[in-house]
Amino acid sequence: MSTHKPVLQKEILEFLQDTKIEVFVDGTLGMGGHAKGILKAHPEITTYIGLDQDEEMVMTAKKELTEFQDKVRFVHGNFAHIEEHLDEQGISFIDGALLDIGLSSPQIDVGARGFSFSKEGPLDMRMDRENRLTAEEVVNKFPEKKLGEIFRDLGEEPRWRAAAKAIIQAREKKRIKTTLDLVNILKTVVRGKKHLHPATLVFQALRIYVNDELKALQRGVTGAIGRLRDKGLIGVISFHRLEDRIVKQIFKGDKRIKALTKKPVVPTSSEVRDNPRSRSSKLRFARREV
Ligand SMILES: C[S@@+](CC[C@H](N)C(=O)[O-])C[C@H]1O[C@@H](n2cnc3c(N)ncnc32)[C@H](O)[C@@H]1O
Repeated sequence: MSTHKPVLQKEILEFLQDTKIEVFVDGTLGMGGHAKGILKAHPEITTYIGLDQDEEMVMTAKKELTEFQDKVRFVHGNFAHIEEHLDEQGISFIDGALLDIGLSSPQIDVGARGFSFSKEGPLDMRMDRENRLTAEEVVNKFPEKKLGEIFRDLGEEPRWRAAAKAIIQAREKKRIKTTLDLVNILKTVVRGKKHLHPATLVFQALRIYVNDELKALQRGVTGAIGRLRDKGLIGVISFHRLEDRIVKQIFKGDKRIKALTKKPVVPTSSEVRDNPRSRSSKLRFARREV
């Protein structure tokens, strides 16, 4: 079983350290790494809502957090519907919220989930396996124009046109079923760079599309802000430009909060050395002011 090292943990705990937290929402429970850190640092917490749209992660977190089982409410759900989930739990206000978006290590490392371009697996990419749309359906059914737009807008892949065209040509001969089928097609048209595998940006685009990630982020952050008490805190860790831009714009434009980070906080070089997956992470924090 792979482990997941929480990213920017020390920095998050520093932002939270002077705040008395009774109710906290963790919209991306994952393996419960941040949850454990926050629960340890804040023994005053009475209710910790731990949400994840991947049921397997909820089960894993349950095992990781047994010592806090009286405080944690484990919820399988999407943070896009954070307010509905809070209502179901009978909670009106929260003292803090954290969204640590993207994938957790087990999701990346298990080939069968279809997220990895280095492991063979079905082209799935759903974080919530109850959803219908898979990457396989997108890649085999969507018209060339739509595929190109997805690669351009959600992956910022410079070779978006060529990638869409190559997929259309390949699928006319044979259905594209696995992650490595797709990687081999992309390799014929995308070169990649030093730290960038040729399939990185197309895989990113498909994952964001399949999970409707940008809309979920917008809704989740706005929903959480709406439930924060005066002086309540919200932190968001994102992993690429499009996500960070959304967080930045909400924190700047929402009159109810004050951004505590003008520029995002990034990991130290020693954290990156220790955990290469933290490399592109960016943390922003804001405080509710009214
Ligand atoms: C980077 S991991 C979180 C790791 C966690 N904070 C830890 O320390 O172990 C991201 C998690 O968020 C979940 N996730 C991503 N988008 C989500 C969404 N819209 N709603 C709920 N969970 C989501 C993923 O399934 C994944 O388990």
